[in-house]
Amino acid sequence: MSSAPRNPDRKKVTLTKLAEMRALGEPVVMVTAYDHPSALAVEAAGVDMVLVGDSAANNVLGYDSTVPVSVEELLMLTRAVRRGLSTPLLVGDLPFGSYEASDEQAIATAHRFVKEAGCDAVKLEGGGASVQRARAIVRSGVPVMGHVGLTPQTAVALGGYRAQGRTAERAAEVMRDAIELQDAGCFSIVFEAIPRDVTDLLMAHMEIPVIGIGAGPSTDGQVLVLHDLLGIHDGHKPKFVKTWADVRGEMIRGVQAYAAEVRGRTFPGPEHGYGIPPEELERLRRLRPRRSAPAYDW
Ligand code: KIV
Repeated sequence: MSSAPRNPDRKKVTLTKLAEMRALGEPVVMVTAYDHPSALAVEAAGVDMVLVGDSAANNVLGYDSTVPVSVEELLMLTRAVRRGLSTPLLVGDLPFGSYEASDEQAIATAHRFVKEAGCDAVKLEGGGASVQRARAIVRSGVPVMGHVGLTPQTAVALGGYRAQGRTAERAAEVMRDAIELQDAGCFSIVFEAIPRDVTDLLMAHMEIPVIGIGAGPSTDGQVLVLHDLLGIHDGHKPKFVKTWADVRGEMIRGVQAYAAEVRGRTFPGPEHGYGIPPEELERLRRLRPRRSAPAYDW
């Protein structure tokens, strides 16, 4: 699997490097990416981890949840991202329905993400049966990232897309899931949409890098969806999102400017086309048009 030329100023991020960052208190920066140009941009920006999230379902494939996205769709996107990355750790997201049925299914899917898309690790959602799946995948040789709190693949069962752990009982469940995933051998874990006070309590029990999204500032790193942080879409944004750019606005402005120049016949200009030597043009003018013209190679 080929990848982009290595960024000469940075070393490849490994699991050991992530553990070191946690030990040194250096924040880990993680983003999603779903295509090759985005991969090149996040590589150039110097992030530490890239997730080809199943959130591609909503953000680039037009589904209204992450549930329908298939392994084949995510593998295709992940391969494109792999070709644009050299330095960050690349995590592939196991989609809903691709790992829950059995350890064998989970291992087979995880191996596809490693062998066919060049992932360094995979991520799966939830505690309970997912803990056993995580353990099986780790034992089969693939590093696993856990994901607790709000787990979008099972959002319906959680009562919708809402913060988790807002009662002592539910917070205790999130805590149990996180600790079990850690014990199962996960190298890292995502905490999504849980109150910062719950995160603070939980962090005291965590020995692996914890990456937060809507979980407050005390985690070892943060992850956001690239399309949210760059303002690529104008759909619903969760409370925990901050937006640092207006890419959608720039895209609309760019296409409107192009349309105005096409309509005003100011584009294309002479600099956007090809020339022909004057003597060739003259020869062409003198050629008599024939019904069965020779095949020109345009
Ligand atoms: O799919 C995704 O984008 C995710 C992140 C929110 C962690 O799982």
